Amino acid sequence: MDLGIKGKIAVVTACSSGLGNAVAHALAAEGAKLVLFARSEDVLRKTAADIESRHHVQALAVAGDMRSEADVKRMVAAMQEKFGAPDILVLSTGRPPIPMREVLDETDAARWEEAYRVQLWGAVLVTRNIVPLMLPRGWGRVISITSATVKQPMIKHGLSTVFRAGVTAYMKHLANEVAARGITVNTVCPASIATANLTSSYDMTERAKRIPLRRVGRPEELAATVTFLASEQAGFITGASLHVDGGMVASLY
Ligand SMILES: NC(=O)c1ccc[n+]([C@@H]2O[C@H](COP(=O)([O-])OP(=O)(O)OC[C@H]3O[C@@H](n4cnc5c(N)ncnc54)[C@H](OP(=O)(O)O)[C@@H]3O)[C@@H](O)[C@H]2O)c1
Repeated sequence: MDLGIKGKIAVVTACSSGLGNAVAHALAAEGAKLVLFARSEDVLRKTAADIESRHHVQALAVAGDMRSEADVKRMVAAMQEKFGAPDILVLSTGRPPIPMREVLDETDAARWEEAYRVQLWGAVLVTRNIVPLMLPRGWGRVISITSATVKQPMIKHGLSTVFRAGVTAYMKHLANEVAARGITVNTVCPASIATANLTSSYDMTERAKRIPLRRVGRPEELAATVTFLASEQAGFITGASLHVDGGMVASLY
């Protein structure tokens, strides 16, 4: 199926590894031009070179921190100089502070502040600098990667649930505000997708036992979902939160 995004300009944040990286490759495989944003400059440059050689599209690497508006504005300026206005924005973010704790044990204000800035504020900063540039075209796709913990709070995930629920609320407001301008806004809620960081922190065999499909997910599976939401065909889906979790979330919706 032609997803209708060949030649579109896609910004992917937090993409030097893990889910963001898989999404960048998946969008490039569909012919999108990529703007890659994360802090690790060397890794990001290698990712851009890899994307260009594997998928034969242009990729621009801009090293920066999502928590810094100056860095975000620098990324946007570099994008405009090389490609022009964006069509697709995929927001992945850094993880909440490690180790994760029960909420009554979260007594350190600095951890709350960090969890807020890395998961919610960074996403807001990027969104408010990118989405206004989509408005004149009357077409856009915004997809934010949150967590299945917004649907079913997981033990010791309070610093994720609280702020990702905030991201979900922000994205729902945005979806309502920009729908009439041809821009869709959705969130995807992963659980137990086997990125390198997750497999090094958790026992994946134990994880798989709690998942109805009896296995963990692959980053490519999450990336395929995001890529579909970025497609022409997904144009009637907006304001949705879709879990990609092997059936782990036990609720009806
Ligand atoms: N994997 C799962 O099953 C799962 C489940 C639920 C939620 N999530 C969430 O999904 C997100 C991605 O997960 P992942 O497994 O792909 O994590 P990951 O492999 O740790 O990747 C995180 C990425 O975020 C970037 N990053 C961190 N802080 C940043 C900042 N301040 N500015 C810009 N980039 C930043 C990192 O690159 P640099 O260090 O180069 O900046 C890295 O590329 C995380 O928020 C995670 O908590 C994942």
